[in-house]
Amino acid sequence: MSDFKCIEFYNDKIIFIDQTKLPLEEIYIKTDDYNRIAEAIEKLEIRGAPAIGVVAAYGLALAMKNKSSQKEQEFYNSYERLRSTRPTAVNLFWALDKMKLIFEQNKNSENIYHILLSAAKEVHKDDIEKCEMIAQNGLNIFQKNSNVLTHCNTGQLATGGDGTALNVIKKGFEKGFVKMVYVDETRPLLQGSRLTAFELEKLNIPFKIITDSTAAFLMKNNDVDLVITGADRIAVNGDTANKIGTYNLAVLSNYHRIPFYIAAPTSTIDCDCESGEKIKIEIREKSEILSIKGVKISKEDYEVYSPAFDLTPNELITGIITEKKLHKPPYKLNDKD
Ligand code: MRU
Repeated sequence: MSDFKCIEFYNDKIIFIDQTKLPLEEIYIKTDDYNRIAEAIEKLEIRGAPAIGVVAAYGLALAMKNKSSQKEQEFYNSYERLRSTRPTAVNLFWALDKMKLIFEQNKNSENIYHILLSAAKEVHKDDIEKCEMIAQNGLNIFQKNSNVLTHCNTGQLATGGDGTALNVIKKGFEKGFVKMVYVDETRPLLQGSRLTAFELEKLNIPFKIITDSTAAFLMKNNDVDLVITGADRIAVNGDTANKIGTYNLAVLSNYHRIPFYIAAPTSTIDCDCESGEKIKIEIREKSEILSIKGVKISKEDYEVYSPAFDLTPNELITGIITEKKLHKPPYKLNDKD
């Protein structure tokens, strides 16, 4: 069992582990300031699509703490500030819009802070339950005791609960379907070698970290039985935005005839996007490529192109696991079933 909590609400403050310091240091950020939460999302101190949605919901509630006047203005300021943090993961907008609706229905209540706080707790609880169901539904993807390859981080650190793709791996391991996990290091911010490795170590699941460019060689040598990743936004037709490098894995899996799965809650499905073309891809700062942990590894004046996510076309995806079921192509997804 793991012994850390990614997100907790206690004594009118939100507490979350600083993911930029992991796995070398386990430091917690404690705040009741929505601006600090927004900054933490921007800096990836907290990251992962569902986790961003959960902390943003708490952020909107906290914006109303101790507010007796100008509530409406402060609410919309905090809503816009949190909305502006990261553009790709739709869970952020899903959670903020849910909270906005509740604010608008109750804005004249004296008790608005507590009303929004229970709504945020509901968003959190809902994600915990969805993670559990995703893991259950994901068990259907294993044909035998498998070597699994995953990308980025999709576990407790990325969600309000026990994770999406990583929770499928965890449940699969408990049932004897997972032999070992190949963990893509996930350049540039190393969510694989830092965060997924940290979680797998805590779960006592055997793993090996590989560089992102190792996957083809492993697949060629029949060392990978299946690939599973998370998602930041899924279009109705199944096109999926996820961490940069996911598309490479999907192409490689297709070439080597290896199943390629996506696991995500329905809050990651964007019903306004018929296909992936409309999904906005976040572009990150060049310093994240030219330095590692503040240490320069290349020249500061070099040009860089750093999209945080890529788009995997639906035809490369063997199945999409949500809390409702394992969807098979052709995809016609919605956020209800
Ligand atoms: O930039 P990040 O670390 O927030 O990107 C995270 C991912 O791409 C995850 O795979 C995705 O959010 C799913 S998390 C359950």
